[in-house]
Amino acid sequence: HGATDALSLQPELKFCAVALSKVHPEGDLQAQTQADAAMAEVPGMETDVLTIQRTTPVLGAVADLLEAALRLEPLPPPVLSAAETTYLSGFISGLKTPGARGHVPVLPVAAPIAPATRLWLDGVFAGLLSRATEGAPDAPTGVTAGDLARAHGAQQQSIALLWASQTGNSEALAERLAAQLKQAGIVVALCCMADYAVGELGKAGKIILISSTYGDGDAPDNGKSFWEFLAEDNAPKLEHLSYAVCGLGDSSYDQFCQHGKNLDTRLAELGAQRLVGRLDCDSDYEAEVNDWIQLIGKRLTGAPLCYEAPPSAQAPHSKNNPFAARLLANTKLNGPAADKDTRFISLSLAGANLRFEPGDALGVWPSNCPDLVDEVLERAGLKDDARVAVDKAGNLPLRQALRDNFELTRPSRETLEFIAERSASPELKTLLAASRNSDLKQWLYGKQLADVLAAFPIKVAAQEFVAALKHIQPRLYSISSSPRAYRGEVHLTVAAVRYGSRNRKGTCSTFLADRAHERDVPMFVQASSHFRLPADPATPVIMIGPGTGIAPFRAFLQDRRVCGARGRNWLFFGERHQATDFYYRDELSGMRKDGFLTELSLAFSRDQAEKRYVQHCLTEGGADIWAWLQDGANLYVCGDAGSMARDVETTLRSIIERHGGLSPETAQDYLRLLAREKRYLRDVY
Ligand SMILES: Cc1cc2nc3c(=O)[nH]c(=O)nc-3n(C[C@H](O)[C@H](O)[C@H](O)COP(=O)(O)OP(=O)(O)OC[C@H]3O[C@@H](n4cnc5c(N)ncnc54)[C@H](O)[C@@H]3O)c2cc1C
Ligand SMILES: Cc1cc2nc3c(=O)[nH]c(=O)nc-3n(C[C@H](O)[C@H](O)[C@H](O)COP(=O)(O)O)c2cc1C
Repeated sequence: HGATDALSLQPELKFCAVALSKVHPEGDLQAQTQADAAMAEVPGMETDVLTIQRTTPVLGAVADLLEAALRLEPLPPPVLSAAETTYLSGFISGLKTPGARGHVPVLPVAAPIAPATRLWLDGVFAGLLSRATEGAPDAPTGVTAGDLARAHGAQQQSIALLWASQTGNSEALAERLAAQLKQAGIVVALCCMADYAVGELGKAGKIILISSTYGDGDAPDNGKSFWEFLAEDNAPKLEHLSYAVCGLGDSSYDQFCQHGKNLDTRLAELGAQRLVGRLDCDSDYEAEVNDWIQLIGKRLTGAPLCYEAPPSAQAPHSKNNPFAARLLANTKLNGPAADKDTRFISLSLAGANLRFEPGDALGVWPSNCPDLVDEVLERAGLKDDARVAVDKAGNLPLRQALRDNFELTRPSRETLEFIAERSASPELKTLLAASRNSDLKQWLYGKQLADVLAAFPIKVAAQEFVAALKHIQPRLYSISSSPRAYRGEVHLTVAAVRYGSRNRKGTCSTFLADRAHERDVPMFVQASSHFRLPADPATPVIMIGPGTGIAPFRAFLQDRRVCGARGRNWLFFGERHQATDFYYRDELSGMRKDGFLTELSLAFSRDQAEKRYVQHCLTEGGADIWAWLQDGANLYVCGDAGSMARDVETTLRSIIERHGGLSPETAQDYLRLLAREKRYLRDVY
């Protein structure tokens, strides 16, 4: 294929005739014989019609009964194209390979099979293997329903613990709870919602769900299919299920913990019973979570569960035990006269006990700008020599406490309620009425705590003031370097947040951009196990990362290059102006020039009269994107969760529809399937 005859210089086609005879390794013979009997017989390549051998008389009779009961007319096998025949003969010989797992086979999304044919074939495969009880597809990893049932038989407590997580908090919490439950002798099936066999739900007995909320009160990406199953009109009744829900969220969002609330309400609607009440966690959730875990422990075992040992100095660095990193580099990625300020930040890992992979994020604990601290002190009428007690930090001077321990930019609802309570004006209280959410949002837009205090002056003591503030939280940044390409350091791509006539600044982005050289940067690795390069280095990858969305893809590209991955790479990048905002221009252009970057599609929105975004590049490259997907490419999206991620998804759907010849519904299913196969992955914020 593709070869040239050396003499005639004409394209050469090689034939090879071989005679194959079956050999069965010992012990595999029975399984192989059954598989042979059950599996589709693909006649030679000379015919393009698939025929199926009939199965045993008893099962055949059952199938006939089912057919009659459902009034199904048997369809003739579809006529296969040459490509379909070739693919399927390879697929079936793969299935016959000794050692292949006994799950019901499903044709991969990328298989060159027409949708109707795929449906028929998937039905055939499922039908042929549907007698298998063990190892059905989607069985939860770790502990199976079988284990749970055995545990039940042995009077042992058992529970399924499912999580859905975008940035790893719910996943980490689920792992911690699972360890505590196991310590108490409970059998735990710990599983991501995306990998859970939803059909098992009715059999689970007891279940704990831990999930964050994203978007507009939605599930995280790996919780979507589970939610779609529950939300369906014909979802099964779950009267025998006891459950507990813990939602993770952030009260600065309108839809606080909404997905956890949705799960809780829906399970109750389906007849399931609450084991304990739902917990809605704000960003600072340690204490509440510990209480909730104790409640679960008491309900399941009659006794509290053991606390995890607090991290020691030798423990790997983590969120609660961050590493203090020295700044190695802080350079502007924008050219002069740019209206953006995006930084390349490099931090030293010397002495750190940290491991990370491309796709992971770095958590950074910021400190507030001293000028902002001064302004807040002044607005609140407080003296900086006061001392305050701060949870876990002890007794601190007020100035230091405000600098290092509390959020001073986005005021939380509780802080606003406190100010409204103390203010002589009733106006803020009125704005806080539930019915005036959108007015409040509009009024707050662009305002920080200092601006609210300026509008509603209050008299307050230092301790009660800090008690009304939210504890400062780390911010996440996608890691921009591969640990294999840059040992001993880690890179970030950070857009410094600056806005408004009063020169307001984002806490962490400007801590990194303006002050990271003054003190070490407390940081930790936040693993994103869902956002990974494909295991097979030959798999093509399509990366869509406008703005700071480029960050993880720089790490992906470096890693693929160092590891010698031969799969094709296609990057979509966009910003405002090519002249000033083409981040990593030299690196990317170099990779494009030497062919490592197979395709580089650029969209600079303000370089022409009509706005141009990455979605436009996607539409233009639609036919090739479809071809790459058919070749098994992974599809990644990173960056703005608002309009970018939404518009990119709409564009991808229309590409699949147009170039795959699919209906809008099937195109949507195709994208869903890509997500289920972990080939459509997003890291959006
Ligand atoms: C998984 C993940 C990966 C991320 N990766 C990156 C990355 O690689 N690079 C990166 O730069 N960021 C990244 N982020 C975003 C980052 O975590 C921070 O949210 C961002 O830096 C802002 O934080 P801050 O502390 O500077 O601002 P904050 O102090 O948190 O203030 C931000 C707030 O300021 C207000 N605000 C901001 N701009 C305006 C405006 N123009 N007008 C009015 N109000 C405004 C808004 O209320 C906004 O919520 C990522 C986030 C996640 C979740
Ligand atoms: C882009 C984005 C959107 C979010 N939307 C919401 C939301 O609508 N409601 C909410 O309560 N929390 C929201 N959050 C906060 C997360 O749910 C919260 O940070 C949670 O701890 C994340 O947990 P995870 O790491 O398990 O995904 C959002 C966070 C991000 C980054």
